[in-house]
Amino acid sequence: MRNPWLDIPLSDYESHISMPAIDQADMLAAQFSDALLRFSPESVAVIGCAGGNGFDKIDSSVTSRVVGVDINPGYIVAASSRFQGSVPGLEFHVADIQSGSLAFEPVDLVYAALIFEYVSLPESLGRLSGACRPGGCLVTVLQLPSSDIHAVSPSPYRSIQALASCMRLVSPEELAGCAATVGFSQESGKTLALRSGKKFVVQTYRRADG
Ligand SMILES: C[S@@+](CC[C@H](N)C(=O)[O-])C[C@H]1O[C@@H](n2cnc3c(N)ncnc32)[C@H](O)[C@@H]1O
Repeated sequence: MRNPWLDIPLSDYESHISMPAIDQADMLAAQFSDALLRFSPESVAVIGCAGGNGFDKIDSSVTSRVVGVDINPGYIVAASSRFQGSVPGLEFHVADIQSGSLAFEPVDLVYAALIFEYVSLPESLGRLSGACRPGGCLVTVLQLPSSDIHAVSPSPYRSIQALASCMRLVSPEELAGCAATVGFSQESGKTLALRSGKKFVVQTYRRADG
C-alpha cells in the first residue's frame, strides 16, 4: 500500500496541525527545543521532519550537524529551502525508516515525534538504533488514545483524513518494550495535555554503550 503521507500536501499538514482547535505544531517544536536544551547534542536527527517544524530552535553554536529525514520528497525540499541558509551543518534524506538503510553517520540525539503511529515499530526502531551513536539519546512523542476525541482530528484539510486508515496509536509501554530490544533503555517519560483534550507522551531513551 502506498504511504498516504506521500499524497498530503505540506501546506495541508502544516495548516491542520496549526489550527487553534488542534494546536500541535508549537507543542512539537517546544518538545524538540526542550530536548536540545537538555542534551546539548553536537549532532541531531529529526525523523519525520516534515517542513522542519522546530528547526528555528537549533543553536548552531551547540549543534553543528542536523539531519532531517522524511519519506515525502516535497517536505524535504521545503525544509531545505527554509533552513539551508540559516542552520549550518544541515543534511536531508528522503527515506522510509521502515526499509532500506538510513545513510548518515550516527548522531548524538534522535528526535522522533508522531511518527511511530504510522510505521512498523521493530523495523523502524532497529534503524533508529543504528542512527544513534552508542550512549546517545532518543526522544519520542506519542499520541495517547482518547475515548471521546478522534485520533485524526476533523479539519477542512481533507487530505489528512487519509491517515485514519493507516494510523495506529502505540502505547508508551509497547514503544519502551520494543525500544529495549534494540538497545534503548528508557530514562524518563511525561504526559502532556493540549487544550483540545488530546494527550501525548514524551519519552527519553539512552542507547546502550558499545
Ligand atoms: C505527524 S507528522 C510529524 C511531523 C513533525 N515531527 C512535526 O513536528 O510536525 C509525521 C511525519 O512523518 C513522516 N513519515 C511518515 N511515515 C514515514 C516513514 N515510514 N519514513 C519516514 N518518514 C515518515 C511524514 O511524511 C510526516 O512528515
